[in-house]
Amino acid sequence: MPTTHRPGLVVLISGLGRNLQAIIHAHQQGRLPAELRAVICNRRDAQGAQFARNAGIPTRILPAEKGENRDEYDTRLAALIDEYQPDIIALAGFMRILSSGFVQQFSGKLVNIHPSLLPRYRGLDAHRKVIANGDPRHGASVHFVTEDLDAGPVLLQGSIEVAAGETPEGLAEKLMRKVETRIYPQALTWIASGRASLREGRIEFDGQALEAPIHEDCTEKTVE
Ligand code: GRF
Repeated sequence: MPTTHRPGLVVLISGLGRNLQAIIHAHQQGRLPAELRAVICNRRDAQGAQFARNAGIPTRILPAEKGENRDEYDTRLAALIDEYQPDIIALAGFMRILSSGFVQQFSGKLVNIHPSLLPRYRGLDAHRKVIANGDPRHGASVHFVTEDLDAGPVLLQGSIEVAAGETPEGLAEKLMRKVETRIYPQALTWIASGRASLREGRIEFDGQALEAPIHEDCTEKTVE
């Protein structure tokens, strides 16, 4: 019987790991056709790392050393990732900016989720900015990582309505529950199954160049 190749997946986290939990959940349910090879976390106290361990996934902690610069850390991180030979590296709340050399080394394999409707609100503090600007909708984007922060080609976005009187904290929680935990496993499933990939800086989806991100209205959606 022919063996089907399941691409290797490594997930990088720093914190609570709610996106990681959604990825693990999709994997356990058989929806994500990848081999979840490892979780790498840069903080010893991250709740997400404990969750990964409890789920039986090889979990490695790689804190930055005192006085270490970005390139030095990224060299150690790359060596650790290489132990698992992943085809996909998912950043799931990994709160470090990556060096150009690192991004180039893993080009086409690095995917991130950002809590805004990119290209709006790159960087930190998106939820507060959405409210301050009176935006009618907020969302999250799954994109391939390029050297410019939060500026790589976007594969999938999900959005929700912003209700009157919403707080940044409430909006962040709703975005996580209704959008992020839904679209990240979905996008990774497309990449793992070969439907979506990065070719020469552009996303190919089902063999065609993707002209604009795929968009899902998640206002009424609840995550499985
Ligand atoms: C998420 O909002 C993600 O979009 C951002 O960092 C947060 C991580 O949360 N990059 P969690 O660790 O997945 O709970």
